[in-house]
Amino acid sequence: MRPESILVTGGSRGIGSACVTRLAAAGRRIAFTYRSNRAQAEETARQVAAAGAEVWCLREDLASAQRARALVRQVVRRWGGLDILVANAGAAEMRTIHRISERDWSRLMDLNLKGVFFCAREALKTMQRQRGGAIVLVGSQAGSTGGFLIGAHYSLSKASLPTMAKILAKEGAPYGVRANCVAPGVIDTDLTRRFPTKAAADLVGRIPLRRKGTAAEVADAVAFLGRSASSYITGITLPVTGGLWMP
Ligand SMILES: NC(=O)c1ccc[n+]([C@@H]2O[C@H](COP(=O)([O-])OP(=O)(O)OC[C@H]3O[C@@H](n4cnc5c(N)ncnc54)[C@H](OP(=O)(O)O)[C@@H]3O)[C@@H](O)[C@H]2O)c1
Repeated sequence: MRPESILVTGGSRGIGSACVTRLAAAGRRIAFTYRSNRAQAEETARQVAAAGAEVWCLREDLASAQRARALVRQVVRRWGGLDILVANAGAAEMRTIHRISERDWSRLMDLNLKGVFFCAREALKTMQRQRGGAIVLVGSQAGSTGGFLIGAHYSLSKASLPTMAKILAKEGAPYGVRANCVAPGVIDTDLTRRFPTKAAADLVGRIPLRRKGTAAEVADAVAFLGRSASSYITGITLPVTGGLWMP
């Protein structure tokens, strides 16, 4: 039988790196991407290889539909299939609504929405053919709440992901393919470390659990949705927010 094959986009640091580490295990093949941070990517790859998994680290800019599709095809060609896709790569900007330019808009929409769609659709095609697999999209509570300290273009780019998970879930279900979304709240990564100190402290004060989440806590939710422990769950969005967003 073919060893299980996993792809995590944006796995060099933060939530993606935690997902790579969490999902890697001896006998599994795990590919992950980064955009520019080679040193961090190599560190993640080193840790995963030490755990006994076969690891493949690829440099990709996933703001392009063509690159997103090509990435999945590359992994499928090399490993003969794809069992779990974690579409995590994403970027955020802090910008008030009147300061968002068309360029800012396109940059975030291309990565956070278009890249995710074409990557997930390509994965769905392979998983339908092999009659099984799981897709996990990394959305955000901002897609539902409108966001805190973050640009409107970011929140809007994330707002489609729960719907995308439902569409993929419906299309995939007849073939045994599941698709879900996680919606992290305020997680301690480079992305939120850029928040102004006072505003960040005020925001943490509004979180019922009174702290930021960790990348590992999001990775636990991703691993749950990607693996057979959630075999009867598809089309949902799971908040990982310490109570900041309670749908
Ligand atoms: N942190 C939070 O509080 C939070 C909350 C809700 C949702 N999220 C979502 O969770 C995901 C991960 O967030 P994070 O906090 O872990 O972010 P992060 O620490 O900034 O890491 C972002 C990852 O995406 C990669 N990346 C950035 N631009 C890319 C591009 N154009 N093409 C391909 N890869 C690209 C980065 O690669 P390099 O290392 O090479 O730059 C890195 O691996 C994102 O989708 C984010 O929106 C995060």
